[in-house]
Amino acid sequence: MAYETILVETRGKVGLITLNRPKALNALNTEVLTELLAAARAFEADPRIGALVLTGSDKAFAAGADIKEMQSQTYVDMYLADFFSGWEDFTRLRKPIIAAVAGYALGGGCELAMMCDFIIAADTAKFGQPEITLGVIPGMGGSQRLTRFVGKSKAMDMCLTGRMMDAAEAERCGLVSRLVPAGELIEEALKAADKIAGFSLPAVMMAKEAVNRSYETTLGEGLRFERRLFHSLFAFEDQKEGMAAFAEKRSANFQNR
Ligand code: HXC
Repeated sequence: MAYETILVETRGKVGLITLNRPKALNALNTEVLTELLAAARAFEADPRIGALVLTGSDKAFAAGADIKEMQSQTYVDMYLADFFSGWEDFTRLRKPIIAAVAGYALGGGCELAMMCDFIIAADTAKFGQPEITLGVIPGMGGSQRLTRFVGKSKAMDMCLTGRMMDAAEAERCGLVSRLVPAGELIEEALKAADKIAGFSLPAVMMAKEAVNRSYETTLGEGLRFERRLFHSLFAFEDQKEGMAAFAEKRSANFQNR
């Protein structure tokens, strides 16, 4: 399928999606959402793919939702279209997706990165929720996900002042999992995704589901949920293979069954 606003490649077992609206610093308009979901769903349906990487350009992962698209919208337009609700579909993807962030990740760009399963950042990355400077507030999860990532004080600081956080601060406060030199960003993200794609896909998907459940439920329910998923993995050949490989001191050859 031909896309206008993204580039899509396959690198071994990894699906790589690159946001590609350079003139608008990868601002996220409706077309980007539609294309990103279509590409991600195609990778979800492809049994050869075990993990995804989402990235942008050196200058911008994404500078936010498209301000020019939103500018003239009325309350009624926003409400009837349930504007931004489509992004929730992105969070329902079941294969792991790594955000590889260089440059600006602002507003919806920061929110999109946080919708991914973890963030690897280049030392050039800058994160922010500058919506307050536009007379609005985050609308794609920033007030909720950022608070869970970095805690109330820093999330309030970001949402109320609109200031940017550099990559070092983002790593210190747990927003990003790894910080790498800009030139190594894609390589590092692809390497991490390739490692994940080499494991048992059901186990990988359940690990993602279990971690995500921790945001939605109590500790007791979350622990029970994790334990049931853990038990269910003993129905897969991959558990036998993984444990046999350990005992036999060889590497495992997972079949995703
Ligand atoms: C539409 C955008 C854009 C955006 C940049 N552009 N960000 N267009 N929506 N979010 C466009 C600019 O208009 C410009 O187009 C081109 O990209 C290059 O941007 P410049 O501003 O010239 O680049 P620079 O001076 O390097 O500054 C980079 C920047 C700045 C600091 C990232 O572009 C910026 O502040 N962007 C807006 C960031 C923001 O507020 N994001 C939050 C959006 S709201 P032209 O045609 O002039 O060359 C959001 C959530 C909304 O995400 C939820 C609540 C409703």
